[in-house]
Amino acid sequence: MVKGDPTVEVLVTGGAGFIGSNFVLHALATHPDWRVTTLDKLTYAGRTENLRDVMDDPRHRFIQGDVADAAVAGPLVRDADIVVHFAAETHVDRSLHEAGAFITTDVYGSFVLLDAARHAQRLRRFVQISTDEVYGSVETGSSTEHDEVKPRNPYAASKAGADRLAYSYWATHGVPVIITRASNNYGPRQFPEKIIPLFVTNAIDHLPVPLYGDGRHIRDWLHVEDHCRALDLLIERGECGEVYNIGGGNEVPNIDLTHRILELLNRPRSLIEPVQDRQGHDRRYSVDTTKLRALGWTPRHPFADGLRATVDWYRDNEWWWRPIKETDTAYRDYYEAQYGNEGPHKSDLSAEASAKAEEL
Ligand code: NAD
Ligand code: TYD
Repeated sequence: MVKGDPTVEVLVTGGAGFIGSNFVLHALATHPDWRVTTLDKLTYAGRTENLRDVMDDPRHRFIQGDVADAAVAGPLVRDADIVVHFAAETHVDRSLHEAGAFITTDVYGSFVLLDAARHAQRLRRFVQISTDEVYGSVETGSSTEHDEVKPRNPYAASKAGADRLAYSYWATHGVPVIITRASNNYGPRQFPEKIIPLFVTNAIDHLPVPLYGDGRHIRDWLHVEDHCRALDLLIERGECGEVYNIGGGNEVPNIDLTHRILELLNRPRSLIEPVQDRQGHDRRYSVDTTKLRALGWTPRHPFADGLRATVDWYRDNEWWWRPIKETDTAYRDYYEAQYGNEGPHKSDLSAEASAKAEEL
C-alpha cells in the first residue's frame, strides 16, 4: 500500500438517502484515512444527486444494490472495518398502507448484513441505525436506553425488530454491534414527505400544509450534522453491545414548528390545513441523552438557527426538490393517496378535527 492511502474501509448502507448522504459527506471530509463504499438500492428516497459532490472522489465508491441481497451485500460487509447501516424504508405513513417493504428491508435486510458480519475478519464496528420511535409514545419523562421497547406502528416495529436482532448478533456471535436511537432529524436533502421539507416546500409555493390531528404531537428535533458527529464519536468510543440515544433536546409541538416555518417564509397561518390524524399517531418522543453526553457529545445547532438554515437550503435548492414534487409520478401518486387529489381539504376532516381547525 502506498503511504497516505486510505486504510479504513467503511461501508455505508442507504448512503444516497437523507441522513446517509450527510454522513458520507461528513465522513470523507473528516477522515482522510477512510475509504467509503455506499450501498444503496435507490428507492424513491435514494438519489445519486445527494452524493454528487463525492461521486468522483477516489475515496468513495457508489454501488447500487439491495441490502437484502446477500450476494451483493455479503462481500462488502466482509471487506469492511466499519459498517454504518442506514438503509431502510423510513416513512411512518407509508408503513400504514404498505408494510411489506419495511419487513423486507428493515428487518430481513438487517439480518442479511448481520449474518455476513459473523464471518467478517476485520470488522471492528457495526452501527445499527435504529430510532427513538422504538420506545413508542412517551407520555411523561424521557426514554433511557434501559426502557422497554414498545413500537406502535409498522415502521417502528420493523426498526425495533432489526434493533433487537442486531443486539442478538452481538450477544450470541460477538458481532461488534452498536445500536443508536436518534430522534427526528432535520437538515438539507430530506425527502419532501417528512414534515419539515414537506411544509417548507409547500409553503414556498403558497400551498396548504397538512397538519395531522390537533397539531400538539411533539417531536425532538436533531440537526443531521449533530447526528453525524454523534455517530463519529460512537464509532470511536462507543461500547459494543450497547444502545445510545441521540436527541437534539428540541421538543417542539408540530403546530409551533409549523408556525415557525411559515414565519421564516413570511407566509400566513391560513395555509395550515388541519387534516385527519395519522392512525396510531405517537403523541410524543423524548430521549434521555445522558449516556451519549458522558462521552463528550453535545449538539451544536440551536434549533432556531438550524431551522432557518434548513428553510434557506430548500429555498436555494429548488433544483433538488422541484423535480420530485412536480414531475416524479410516484411522488405525485403518493401525495394524492395520502392527502387527496388537490392536496388536503377541510371537508375531509372528521367533526373533531374540524373543531380543532377553528382553534388553530
Ligand atoms: P431516507 O428514507 O432518506 O433514506 C433511506 C435510504 O435507504 C435511501 O437512499 C434508500 O434508497 C435506501 N434503501 C432503502 N431500501 C434499501 C435496500 N433494500 N437496500 C439498500 N438501500 C436501501 O431515510 P433517512 O431519513 O436518511 O433515515 C436513515 C436511517 O436513519 C434509517 O434507518 C431510519 O430508520 C433512521 N432514522 C431516521 C430518522 C429521521 O428523522 N429521518 C430518525 C432516527 C432514525
Ligand atoms: P414525520 O416527519 O413523518 O416523522 P415521524 O412520523 O417519523 O415523527 O412526522 C413528524 C410529525 O409531523 C408527526 O407528529 C406527524 C406530523 N405530520 C403532520 O402533521 N403532517 C404531515 O403531512 C406529516 C408528513 C407529518
